[in-house]
Amino acid sequence: MIGNKLVSQQNKQMLMNWPERVWIYSPLRLIFQKREMRKWIRIGLPPNRQIALEIGCGLGRGAKLISDSMGFQDVIAFDLETNLVRKSRNGLGKTSVKNLHFLTADAQNLPFPDQSFDAVFNYGIIHHVLDWRQCLAEIHRVMKPLSIFYFEEIYPPLYANWLFKKMLRHPKEDRFYESDFLGQLSGLGMKVRDGTKTGSRFGVIGAAQKH
Ligand SMILES: C[S@@+](CC[C@H](N)C(=O)[O-])C[C@H]1O[C@@H](n2cnc3c(N)ncnc32)[C@H](O)[C@@H]1O
Repeated sequence: MIGNKLVSQQNKQMLMNWPERVWIYSPLRLIFQKREMRKWIRIGLPPNRQIALEIGCGLGRGAKLISDSMGFQDVIAFDLETNLVRKSRNGLGKTSVKNLHFLTADAQNLPFPDQSFDAVFNYGIIHHVLDWRQCLAEIHRVMKPLSIFYFEEIYPPLYANWLFKKMLRHPKEDRFYESDFLGQLSGLGMKVRDGTKTGSRFGVIGAAQKH
C-alpha cells in the first residue's frame, strides 16, 4: 500500500500538469518539433532506418515527424501516461500512418530487448524522469551498434526558474546540466556528434552515436 502510494506520487512528479499540457497541445510545440527535426537531419542520419523509438511521445506528433522526415519503416513511441497513448493511437496510429505503434511504458525500464533500435528520439522528456541516468542507460541498452540517439533537453534555469517553478511540475532532486547529461552519454560509450548545439545554460539539442 505504502509502496503503491510512493509509486503514484513519483509518477505524478513525472507527468505534466495543465499549463504544460497547454504547451504540448499548442501548434507552437509542433513548429518547435519540426525545427528540432531539421537540426537532427543536418547532424546526420543513422546507417539503417528500419525501426526507431520515441520516448515520452505525448500526443504522438513527434513520432509522425520521425516517420515522415527520416523515413523509418516503423516507429515505436511510448509514454507513461496511458491517456496520451490512447489519444496518439486513436489519432495518428489508426488513421494516417500505418507504421506508428504506440504503447504505455516507463523510460526508466524499457520493455525491449538489447540492441533493438536504429535510432532513439527524445523530444524533451528526460528532465521529467526521476532517475535520468537509468533512463540514459536504458536508451543505450536498446540501441543497435552505430545507431543514433537524438535529443533535445532543457536544464533547471529554464524549467525551474522563479516563474516556471511555480507553474510547472518537474522532479526537483538530482537534476542535470550540460556537463552531467553529455558526460553521462560519453560514460556509456556514446560519441556526441558534431553539430550538437552546446554552450547554452538553458538546454541542448543534438545527437550521440553508439560505438
Ligand atoms: C514535456 S512532455 C513532452 C511530450 C512530447 N515529447 C512533446 O515534445 O510534445 C513530457 C512527456 O514525458 C512523459 N513522461 C514523463 N516521465 C516519463 C517516463 N518515466 N516514461 C515515459 N514517459 C514519461 C510525460 O507523460 C509527457 O508526455
